[in-house]
Amino acid sequence: MADQYDLIVIGGGPGGYTAAIRAAQLGLKTACVEKRENKALGGTCLNVGCIPSKALLDSSEMYETTTHKLARHGVKVGSVALDLDTMLKRKDKVVSELTGGVAYLFKKYGVTPVFGSAKLLKGNKVEVTAAGGAKSTLEAKSVLLATGSESAELPFMKFDGKHIVSSTEALNFNPVPKHLIVVGGGYIGLELGSVWKRLGSKVTVLEFLPRILSISDGEIASDVHKLLTKQGFEIHVDTKVTGAKVSGDNVTVTAQSKDGKELSFQGDRVLVAVGRRPYTAGLGLDDAGVKYDAKSGRVEVNQHFQTNVTGVYAIGDLIAGPMLAHKASEEGVVFAETLAGMKPHINYDAIPSVIYIWPEVSSVGLTEEQVKEKGTEYRVGKFKFSATGRAKAMDEQDGYVKVLADAKTDRVLGVHILGPRASDLIAECVTIMEFKGSAEDIARCTHAHPTLSEAVGEAARMAWAGKPLNS
Ligand code: NAI
Repeated sequence: MADQYDLIVIGGGPGGYTAAIRAAQLGLKTACVEKRENKALGGTCLNVGCIPSKALLDSSEMYETTTHKLARHGVKVGSVALDLDTMLKRKDKVVSELTGGVAYLFKKYGVTPVFGSAKLLKGNKVEVTAAGGAKSTLEAKSVLLATGSESAELPFMKFDGKHIVSSTEALNFNPVPKHLIVVGGGYIGLELGSVWKRLGSKVTVLEFLPRILSISDGEIASDVHKLLTKQGFEIHVDTKVTGAKVSGDNVTVTAQSKDGKELSFQGDRVLVAVGRRPYTAGLGLDDAGVKYDAKSGRVEVNQHFQTNVTGVYAIGDLIAGPMLAHKASEEGVVFAETLAGMKPHINYDAIPSVIYIWPEVSSVGLTEEQVKEKGTEYRVGKFKFSATGRAKAMDEQDGYVKVLADAKTDRVLGVHILGPRASDLIAECVTIMEFKGSAEDIARCTHAHPTLSEAVGEAARMAWAGKPLNS
């Protein structure tokens, strides 16, 4: 007889593990199946995504600060050397501590981890094939698909794990590439490009569209382009990559400019970061009759994450929406609470996004382009970090906060931040948007002095009252 559960979660990433923990907290008998061979929970985010990349971004930023910024603060250092082995080991330690933390939480809340590859069978049964080949069957009232996504591959330049790689291998280059060619000017390309640029690589970004960060606010994306170029990035937009040839330890990438000119770039490593696709290989969607979009691979769900098959649900990168860890976790919580009879909600209009380059970029709500497209009358408030005492003290002069507010109601429509610690500053704006607040609401909240958050208050004041106090 199959093991019986209230809920089987397939996938132990931020969506799946969060759903499993919340379901168990609410008294549901829950199992979570994970196929990663080293039995590490946490999915792409903890193992080969958000966490290791941030560990490297923080380490490489320290190296950059030490080599290029400390002298201006009056701190003299002797010769500075990069110890890449230690940097990579520290990154691995950060990962193992966090994945171990998820295992601890499973134990604490009574989630049963099941290691192996899960296949959905008819009748809410799940077949699990363990690493050694042994098969077992689990059965549950509900099954949640949370298998996430994988790096998209370009058909004419397949990943080879060494010269032409996805973000996973780009976390472990050793030695530092001499010339890293990045295909795709999106989140991954710019973040991992930043890591290796700071550590000494020449970095060339090839972007198909007319601008990098195509879904970000246009003004912010244009200023990021300028700042990265100032940092030494070589960025080519309107450039369609057409092929790559490896010879010895070198790669030649061929591309075409918008006006049809043939281009060629010589490097030693190529990172292909052209987006991600839902990961459903071997999941048995077709046999179980679960509907998904053939082109995008996204599983179709209703507002309660229910697929067309009764009792089978899906969340995270598998379904529509931004492929972000925190979006998946929120959906996991809302799914589990709904299953347990609660009435939670998720507000897709207030999901923040962050790009961890330096200065950082963060945003919530609509971009200026989207506001214009909707035909909403709006006001813009902008405030430069260089006009705040704290940013000056930190020697962080670049960037600004941009608040978009409805011209009639003053309601905040979107906030976009380019600047130091933009990742943390966006939280206040998410809260305001969640409560449908106004620019005046932000401006009237007291912002501690001297902090970077004063730039948020001043930008909001400008959107609401037409002028800030300190500029
Ligand atoms: P992306 O969608 O952010 O950017 C991919 C870029 O590649 C686009 O600008 C696209 O126009 C370009 N592109 C596509 N085909 C191309 C071609 N043939 N030649 C040149 N350029 C081409 O995708 P990315 O950076 O791979 O990230 C994948 C997902 O992971 C994203 O959905 C992102 O949200 C998520 N992510 C989030 C992070 C964060 O929250 N900080 C960090 C890293 C990834």
